[in-house]
Order: sequence, then structure tokens, then C-alpha cells
Amino acid sequence: MNKKKLVFSGVQPTGNLHLGNYLGALKNFVSLQKEMECIYCVVDLHAITVFQDPNHLHNNVLETTASFLATGLDPNKSIIFNQSSVSGHTELAWILNCVSRIGWLNRMTQFKDKAGSDKEKASVGLYIYPNLMAADILLYKATHVPVGADQKQHLELSRDIAQKFNKDFNCKDFFPLPEPLIPKNISRVMSLRDGTKKMSKSEESDYSRINLKDNADEINKKIKKAKSDSDSIPEEKQLLENKPEALNLLTIYSELTNSSLDNVISEMAGKEYSFLKTKLTEVIINELSPVGKEIQKLLKDKSYLKNILKKGTEKANIIAEENLKNIREKIGLI
Ligand code: TRP
Repeated sequence: MNKKKLVFSGVQPTGNLHLGNYLGALKNFVSLQKEMECIYCVVDLHAITVFQDPNHLHNNVLETTASFLATGLDPNKSIIFNQSSVSGHTELAWILNCVSRIGWLNRMTQFKDKAGSDKEKASVGLYIYPNLMAADILLYKATHVPVGADQKQHLELSRDIAQKFNKDFNCKDFFPLPEPLIPKNISRVMSLRDGTKKMSKSEESDYSRINLKDNADEINKKIKKAKSDSDSIPEEKQLLENKPEALNLLTIYSELTNSSLDNVISEMAGKEYSFLKTKLTEVIINELSPVGKEIQKLLKDKSYLKNILKKGTEKANIIAEENLKNIREKIGLI
């Protein structure tokens, strides 16, 4: 049995990466690369399950790559590449389409949310998206997958597919069952305008999120405008139950200062939210301004970014081809 630990994760190139992606995913990616072998993929084929303007898609792949590098992913330690340039992803996805069951896909809540009320009009790709995600992971026999809480169901499906493949083709332990790594404290950073919604690339108002590319001025303005609460900061967490925007700002502050939410609340109890906002603006600028500047700098050299992806693709391909050879053999393909 393959006991080597291997991390795989993917990020869709569908627009501005933001503070939620940073705290919920990228920061974790960076710390994992210190301990384990890691593969980080810009999942362009997942992005096109919903129509993408070709020019935007092209730029977004480069921008996501720049964001990976700017937050500290190191192409000498981790494999960084874009999904569509390793054709093994689509080949294995097809094979897994034949292992996965319609009944399993019908239970996926993300498809129901994304397809909306008119499911007949959703792309077939959107429906089988979770099978492609399973292919991403299993192509490398990854053992650990850092994802947000919203991807837990997809990861469970990947485990079911791996298990069925191992059973159907009589090869116990061929695919390891991938474990989710879901960040404990901060699985969700919420919108700055509506604390009941996740901070999202696709929300219309740019004031709802802090983008990694925002400059100090923009960060300052957005935090000033963020919804909070007219009461002062309470003494206990429980009193924030119906104040999601206030809770969100305190949570972000606690996460960026590496201090527990309880500590932050007891430190700030009785103060106005304007006090928190001043401090929060300062810590966000400290942490994200260098990242934003680095992204802008990297984006000026597109051939450098493409070269990073090319080198990552070469490394990924070696692992993918070796595993695919064995997969084809297990199935009886010649
Ligand atoms: N579906 C994931 C998301 O939207 C992205 C993704 C694609 C992914 N393939 C993956 C994440 C493989 C982890 C592992 O967030």
C-alpha cells in the first residue's frame, strides 16, 4: 500500500481571490508545503462548467497562479500547474464517470445550488463536476485534500468512487481514500455587507469582499463601510449570535492576529466597533498589501507565470502518466 502522504488541492480561476480564499485555503496551502509533498492546481476545466469569457479565463488562470506565488507557494517545493495541460485529468474523469453512480451525483447539494431552478439548462459538465474533482485527486493518489467545508460532500464522493474502483477491479488499496483537511476555526469568512452569506468572488458589490489585489486605500474604505453593529462590543461570544456581521469582523481579526475569538472579545469588550475597525484595517493592510503588490508585479511578466505552469505541468505529468498506466491496466484497456 502506498503510505506516502501527498496533498492535492485545486482553486478555480474564476475571478478575484479574496480574504476568504486567503484565510480558508491559501494560507493553509503554504503551511502544508512545509510538511508534505503538495500539488496545487488551477482548475480551469472546472471553471468552464459555467460559461467563461475566453479572455477573462486566460487572464484569470495567470492571476490565480500569481496569487499562489504571492501568498508564498514555492514552485521548488510544490507542484503548481493548470489542470487542462495535464490530459490525464480528463482521461481519468471519463473512466470515473463509468464508476460513479447517477444516484450519487443526484445527492450533490452544490449542483442543486448552482444549477438553480432550471436544471435542464445546466451544462452536463456542471453535473459531473464532482467526478472530475475525484479524477484530480486520484490521478496523483493524493492522501490529503485541503478544502473548504462546502467541498466536503464532493470529497466524500471521491472516497466512494475510489472505494468502488478498488472493489470493482479487485485491487484493494490501489487508490488511497483521500482525507479532507478542513480548517477548524475559519471555514467561512462572510461577506462584509451581509454576514449570513459567504465572502464570494461572484457577489456583485465589491464592498462585500477584500480582494488580494486591493491596495491600502481600498481596504481602508471597505472596512469603514463594512456592516457592524450599533451596540458596543459585548463581553461574551454568545451575545453575538444574532449579529453575524459583527461576529465576522471579530473572527477575521482573531484569525489575522493568531489570537482566539474569546481573547479578542475580552480584550475589546465595551469598545465601539470603530475601534475594532481601525485595528482590523491595520492588520489586513499589513498582511495583504505585500501580497497585492506582488500579484501586480507578477502579472506584468506573463511569460514568467506561463513558465512556472509549464514546469509544474511537466512534473505533474510524470506522476499522472505513471498512475494512468496502472489504471488502464487494472481496467483491461490495451
Ligand atoms: N471544487 C473545488 C472548489 O470549487 C475546486 C477543486 C477542483 C478541487 N478539483 C479539486 C479542490 C480537487 C480540491 C481537490 O473549491
